[in-house]
Amino acid sequence: MTDLTLAVVVLAAGQGTRMKSSRPKVLHSIAGRSLIGHVLATAGELEPGHVIAVVRHARDWVVESITDAMPNALIVDQDEIPGTGRAVEIAIAALPADFAGDVVVVSGDVPLLDAATLRSLIDTHRAASAAATVLSAILDDATGYGRIVRGSGGEVDRIVEQADASDDERAITEINSGTYVFSVAPLREQLALVGTHNAQGEKYLTDVVGLLRAAGSAVAAMPVPDGWRVSGVNDRVQLAEASRRMNELIVKRWQLAGVTVDDPATTWIDADVTLAEDVQILPGTQLKGATLVQTGATIGPDTTLVDTEVGAGAVVKRTDATLAVIGENASVGPFAYLRPGTYLGADGKIGTFVETKNSTIGAGSKVPHLSYLGDATVGEGSNIGAGTITANYDGVSKNPTIVGDQARTGSHNVFVAPVTIGDGAYTGAGTVVRKDVPAGALAVNVAPQRNIEGWVEKNRAGTAAAQAAAAASGTE
Ligand code: UD1
Ligand code: CA
Repeated sequence: MTDLTLAVVVLAAGQGTRMKSSRPKVLHSIAGRSLIGHVLATAGELEPGHVIAVVRHARDWVVESITDAMPNALIVDQDEIPGTGRAVEIAIAALPADFAGDVVVVSGDVPLLDAATLRSLIDTHRAASAAATVLSAILDDATGYGRIVRGSGGEVDRIVEQADASDDERAITEINSGTYVFSVAPLREQLALVGTHNAQGEKYLTDVVGLLRAAGSAVAAMPVPDGWRVSGVNDRVQLAEASRRMNELIVKRWQLAGVTVDDPATTWIDADVTLAEDVQILPGTQLKGATLVQTGATIGPDTTLVDTEVGAGAVVKRTDATLAVIGENASVGPFAYLRPGTYLGADGKIGTFVETKNSTIGAGSKVPHLSYLGDATVGEGSNIGAGTITANYDGVSKNPTIVGDQARTGSHNVFVAPVTIGDGAYTGAGTVVRKDVPAGALAVNVAPQRNIEGWVEKNRAGTAAAQAAAAASGTE
């Protein structure tokens, strides 16, 4: 149920210079989702009454992605005053005047933070009746982070930024994760007092903590048990590290949901993938986008599926598929390439070195070896001979090939589209099918074979072939 007393502010105005990228940092992806997409999904799990995203750098690009992920998120633009404090000040100004609840502040570049951690931060905040509660972490190497400065009684006194810290303060290992819960009224009050007299000339959100303490308000800090949960992505090394962690979490979630993953280290599963119980995933497999795999199917090894649906019990081996639908108990690969618009019916087969595009292969039909089917519709129970190519492109437009039910086409055929092969029809080996084949007919258009007796012995005398031929005919 929506918590109307809760607002989440997502900070995303920064550029992310260290990514060295034309793409804004928060739009880099892990597990098939932008960094900010992960943060918004986590925010959404809290069911807050308001989600406010603060933008500035590459504004329109970032806004488009935010709106895609969460259409009802409120967008606010940061002005030329820099700093996290200014960002939050502008964000909460967009809240309804009568909003009297709590404000969760998160960064758009901290994708691994989960809703359970945020919930316990909110619970801690509410239980302590604090004005502010900071999510902290104890890190071996705290370099770069703001440090939590505690008083002699262990109470939080203030936060000092790395750039402004003394040597003693830099020795503190408890860091500010950049995630907080604030009660809105004291936050609003203190933000108005925050200045920019610091090493970076920015309006620091962290200054609110010291100001609240000076005003006699309670401030709590809750350390997370796993420091990596709150690590931000600032460069591409950290992007890969976050990607690996996220994948580990996703793989583990599916294992606990009944999926066998032979080698988690080489299995990559995007956040939006859905897997049923008793799916088996073999090493070297990437499941991307909105891929869906039904129960009992086996995927891999060395398979990449993008936005692909796999039916129950199907086997998909060493395959690359995008926007394809694979039916129940069907078999695909090894070494198959399924391009968008491929539909393989139940019990069907797309075999070795077969490429398909915009083609439907009916239930029980097989394309077992070395073929290309483009813009083709094959009925049920048909068999397409090895090495068959649909000539679907006449150089100007793409044309359809239709094969009926229970057809048997020969090896090494070319189907010159548009062309139709009827139900139960046959074609001979090597046929170039240029005309429609009626139901039940056999199509052949290969020239009759002539054997010229004795040709090898006469024209290739002395060769191994000629000797073998002589031995076979008893002339030696
Ligand atoms: C901030 C904290 C620091 C903490 C660290 C955790 C402050 C002053 N410092 O430092 O104590 O340890 O996060 O990662 O808050 N942003 C805006 N507008 C701005 C500036 C930043 O929206 O004007 C956004 C950024 O896009 C980013 C987040 O705020 O998502 C954090 O900003 P960043 O510049 O990375 O802060 P740090 O210096 O890392
Ligand atoms: Ca940062």
